[in-house]
Amino acid sequence: MKKSDGIPQDLREFLNILEGKGNLKVVEGADWNIEIGAINEMMAEKKGPALLFDKIKDYPKGYRVATNILHRNDFQKIAFGIPENLSNLDAVKFWKDKWNRFKPVPPKVVNKGPVLENVMEGKDIDILKFPTPKWHEHDGGRYIGTGVATITRDPEEGWINVGTYRVMIQDKKTVAFYSSPGKHAVIMREKYWAQGKECPVVMCFGQQPLIFGSSTMGLPWGVSELDMVGYMQGKPVDVILGKYTGLPIPANAELVIEGFSPSTKLDGRPEGPFGEWTGYYASGRRDEPVVHIKRIYFRNNTIIHGQPPIKPPVNTWFPIPLHTATMLWTELDKLGLQNITGIYVHGPGNRVICVISLKQRFLGHARQVATAAGALLIGGACTGRYIITVDEDIDPSDLDEVLWAVCTRCDPEMAIDIVPGFLTSPLDPMLRPEKRERGDFTTAKVFINACKPYHWKDRFPPINRAPSETREKVMKKFKELFSK
Ligand SMILES: Cc1cc2nc3c(=O)[nH]c(=O)nc-3n(C[C@H](O)[C@H](O)[C@H](O)COP(=O)(O)O)c2cc1C
Repeated sequence: MKKSDGIPQDLREFLNILEGKGNLKVVEGADWNIEIGAINEMMAEKKGPALLFDKIKDYPKGYRVATNILHRNDFQKIAFGIPENLSNLDAVKFWKDKWNRFKPVPPKVVNKGPVLENVMEGKDIDILKFPTPKWHEHDGGRYIGTGVATITRDPEEGWINVGTYRVMIQDKKTVAFYSSPGKHAVIMREKYWAQGKECPVVMCFGQQPLIFGSSTMGLPWGVSELDMVGYMQGKPVDVILGKYTGLPIPANAELVIEGFSPSTKLDGRPEGPFGEWTGYYASGRRDEPVVHIKRIYFRNNTIIHGQPPIKPPVNTWFPIPLHTATMLWTELDKLGLQNITGIYVHGPGNRVICVISLKQRFLGHARQVATAAGALLIGGACTGRYIITVDEDIDPSDLDEVLWAVCTRCDPEMAIDIVPGFLTSPLDPMLRPEKRERGDFTTAKVFINACKPYHWKDRFPPINRAPSETREKVMKKFKELFSK
C-alpha cells in the first residue's frame, strides 16, 4: 500500500497502525441490533481501543464494522498526520497553518481500485446485505451512514463537495439522508430539483480517515474536500468514476453506493429519530430526501466505518476540534484580526463553546474579535452558542482555566451580551416546541468577555502564582521532590 506524509491511505492501513500499537480489538458475535452500539458507547467511555466487529449476528464472517477509531487524541493525530508530541492547541495551530498555504491538489482518475472488487447492480442491489447497526435504543432505523462521506457536484459550478450527513436505510434499494439547513449538499440538491432533475449522489460508508475527517469540515463554498485531502497529504486522492453519475469515488473506499436523489415532492421518507451528538433524540422523525441506489461497490471483507454520536461529555467524533477551531481561526486570520493567540471549541461535538485568547491591543479589541467569531462559527445545532474571549495568559483549550477567567475577569453586568437570531438546526434540543413547529431554527448567541477590562487592565490585581524564576530555582533545588 502507498504511503504519503505518514498519513494512512485507507481505513485498513489506519486499523493496521492501531493494531500495531495494541489499540485494536476484534469483537465477534455481537448483535447489530443495539449491542454493537452499546459496546461502542461503553468502550468510548473508557477511552478504550478501536473496535472491529466481525461475525456479526445474522451475517457471515468478513462483513465488518469498525468503531471508536477517532475518539482519542492519539488516534486522531495518526489519521490526520499531526506530530504526536503537539499539545491540543498546537495541533489546531499546526493544522491551521498548513491549511493557510492550501493549493488545490485535484484527485487522480484511475480505472481500477479495491472498491471495484465487488459490484451489485439491478435486481441484485441489497444494502441490507451489510451488517448495519441500529446504534441507539430509540433510533428510528438502521444507520449505515455515521462515518459517511457523501459526494455531490454543484450543477452550476461543477465543483465536487464531500460532506458527512447521516444515512438511514429505508429498504434494499433506498436510503434517506439528513442534512441540516445550509449544508453544501442541501444547496446543491435543491439546484438540481429546481431544474427538474434528480441529484446524483455517491455515499462512502468506510474510507480513508482523512477523507472522512475533511468531509466533516465546513470548507468554504467552492473548495472541494478531495482537493484539500490531496493537498494535506501531498498527493492526489485516487478515484474511479461512478458508472451512472460520473462522480469521483475514492478507489480505496470500503463500501459505496451510487444513485440519485429525487425532489422530496416526488419521494421523501421518514427519517429519525436518531441519538444525536447533543446527547438527545431532538429532531424526531420527519420526511427527508432519499437516494435510489443504482450501484453498490464494495471491497472483499468490507468494513463499514461506524461513528455514531453518544451522550456528551464522551466524544466519539474528534477530541481535537480541527473541524471547528481550525476553520474559525483561518477565517479570522483572513479578516486580518491581529493578536489572536489561540482558538479552541469545547462542548458537544466540539462546536458549542468557543474560546478565543488574544493579546488586547486597543479598547473594544476583544469585542471585535468575539463578534466576528460569533458571525463565522456556524454549522450544526446550537452552534457556537457561547463565545468566550480570554487574555493571552489563559490556555483556551483548558476549560478549568477558562472558567477561572470567566469567574474572575468578567463583570456579568457589563461583559455578557445575548444576541438572538443566529442559525441553529432542528437538532437543537433547546428549540421550544412552538418555535420548532413554525420552522424557526434560530438561537441566541452569548458573548462573554473574560478579558481583563482594557481601560484598567494595568491596575488589575496581580496573579498570586510563583513567578517562573522562583519555580525554576525551586525545581533545581528540590528536583527529587518533583521527579515523580
Ligand atoms: C461524525 C459527524 C457526523 C455528522 N453528521 C451530520 C449530519 O447527520 N447532518 C448534518 O447536516 N451535518 C452533520 N455533521 C456536520 C457536517 O458534516 C459538517 O457541517 C460538514 O462541514 C458538512 O459539509 P459541507 O460544509 O460540505 O456541507 C456531522 C459531523 C460529524 C463530525
